[in-house]
Amino acid sequence: MERLKLGFIGGGFLGHFMAAAMEHVRNVELAGIYSPHSGPKLSAYARERGLGDATVYPTIEELCKNVDAVAVFCVNYARVEVMEQIAAAVKAGAQLKGLIVDKPLARNLKEARRVVELGNQLGIPVSYFENQLHMKPIKAQLAQLAPQQRTMGPMSLTRCAEEHAGPHSAWFWDPTRQGGGVLSDMGCHSIAVGWYALNPLGKPIDFLKPVSVSCEVGLLKWGLPRYREVLKKRFDLDYEKTPAEDFTTGMITYKNPETGQLSKSQFTNSWMFEKQGLRVFMDGMGPGYAFEINSLVAPLTIFIGDEAAEAAANAETALEKSTSSRGLLAVHHNEADVYGYTDELKDTGDAFLKGQNGMMTLEYGYEIVKLTMAAYMAAEKGVTIDLTDPAVQKELETYIPAIQQGLGADQLYGRK
Ligand SMILES: NC(=O)c1ccc[n+]([C@@H]2O[C@H](COP(=O)([O-])OP(=O)(O)OC[C@H]3O[C@@H](n4cnc5c(N)ncnc54)[C@H](O)[C@@H]3O)[C@@H](O)[C@H]2O)c1
Repeated sequence: MERLKLGFIGGGFLGHFMAAAMEHVRNVELAGIYSPHSGPKLSAYARERGLGDATVYPTIEELCKNVDAVAVFCVNYARVEVMEQIAAAVKAGAQLKGLIVDKPLARNLKEARRVVELGNQLGIPVSYFENQLHMKPIKAQLAQLAPQQRTMGPMSLTRCAEEHAGPHSAWFWDPTRQGGGVLSDMGCHSIAVGWYALNPLGKPIDFLKPVSVSCEVGLLKWGLPRYREVLKKRFDLDYEKTPAEDFTTGMITYKNPETGQLSKSQFTNSWMFEKQGLRVFMDGMGPGYAFEINSLVAPLTIFIGDEAAEAAANAETALEKSTSSRGLLAVHHNEADVYGYTDELKDTGDAFLKGQNGMMTLEYGYEIVKLTMAAYMAAEKGVTIDLTDPAVQKELETYIPAIQQGLGADQLYGRK
């Protein structure tokens, strides 16, 4: 079997998760890594499991010259710079056959445009990674409810959420480096999967046209003095001066361009989720039918009493961003598969080996950044954003949310 030699740019949390997913994927191997931090650790992890040579390269150019395709899994604030280095490597002779860029494509539309431009200039297959569109339960409900969609009509409402207790690295919490708070970080997942699940059967993923966006953001936990202190100590961040939102909810209205029918998708995301760990939740309904997915309903539960918990704490092995190591715990024995990482790698491996794009292009990633920016704009202005207005579309092109500029304190502490 032909295998795609993949190189990771960024070998942190996501790099490790993707390597774990690779254990279940036969057409892709981890050939190389470029990562300013934790490259050797990821390489050792991959080699132990026979996932590929996982050679650590000192530059992006060296990596690009020694692999078939590269995956951008790095911090948000280095996306444009990394894309420029990939473009320079190809110009210098690297023979890449594919480029992956994980969510979010970029922090705002100005950066997103540059990422799309640089990616498309390479003239090779591309794949925007949004794992939730590849989740097996999402695909299963689509297949299971296909006859109902055909006879009763398409879905009319989806509600999607991804929530946990807060990110693991300091840069995620810094709105200027990450691009905002939880809306920028995880809103993109829920917005994308909500749109996808609403799309009528057999239509392209961008078939439904987004017409309006409403949104609220809040700083409900990490702005409290006690928790600001935690962030100061843990990450040296000042959330009194430069906060980001830890909660968001909003609604996107879509129009079917053939029938004119309106449908809605609600997103809810938080970094203040006080349950067992990461929860991915989606539900949807059409006339006479519905689906519901809740990642905290795991096939395995375990119980650890106080005495045993004091002897050994192993919370992170149960669930991403676990908050507890005792009591009745949900355990996912294969989280990489549950969240769709396995399927997105396999899909893209197949596509690149055939010389084709993955399921999503960079332009699709751009549309998701646009919806995220429209959501920030709606929250900042306190109005519903009309995406059918050309003046609004123009404004979005250069819009940088106040929160992303580090100027979100008045908005988030209700001072205006
Ligand atoms: N699809 C998902 O569900 C999912 C999950 C987690 C993270 N992510 C995304 O993956 C990206 C990385 O997140 P993470 O959790 O791995 O963060 P992390 O902090 O754990 O790791 C970030 C990595 O980026 C590397 N890096 C820093 N500066 C760099 C540069 N200039 N060039 C190249 N690499 C650089 C670091 O060395 C580190 O290995 C983020 O964009 C995040 O949104 C996606």
